[in-house]
Amino acid sequence: MQEIYKYIQECDNILLTSPLYFSELTGKRLEIGSRLQTYFCARLFRKEEPITKSKKGAVILVGGGDGYIDTAYSTACTLLHHMNCYNIHDAVYSHNTNERSAVDDKKVLLGLHSILDFFTNNE
Ligand SMILES: Cc1cc2nc3c(=O)[nH]c(=O)nc-3n(C[C@H](O)[C@H](O)[C@H](O)COP(=O)(O)O)c2cc1C
Repeated sequence: MQEIYKYIQECDNILLTSPLYFSELTGKRLEIGSRLQTYFCARLFRKEEPITKSKKGAVILVGGGDGYIDTAYSTACTLLHHMNCYNIHDAVYSHNTNERSAVDDKKVLLGLHSILDFFTNNE
């Protein structure tokens, strides 16, 4: 994680991506996300702000078509908040991959362009 912590300090934008597993981020994403608890501890116990540079964030999700994306998006936003990322793009998702590949989902392609604009716009 040391390399990742260093990168989180320096970066301008954070993009979280995941397939939906049981309407949540996958276990592997949550496992990495749990390592961000160190930032929570810094704020709560040591009264420190561990990441001074604020960032922009975005979340891309894919799912077969069952359940909901809201929980996964909410969890992803919580992880972004831990990394001092409060300016977050709306969820971009393809939630019908059982029927149609995400690469053929025009709404997702528009969403990807929107995230790019959001990340590269300095305002
Ligand atoms: C364990 C597991 C749980 C899943 N749960 C959901 C779900 O709750 N909702 C959904 O829409 N798709 C669900 N899916 C389908 C995947 O999100 C979907 O097939 C996705 O495109 C898989 O991406 P991947 O091939 O990169 O893993 C699940 C798949 C697996 C393996």
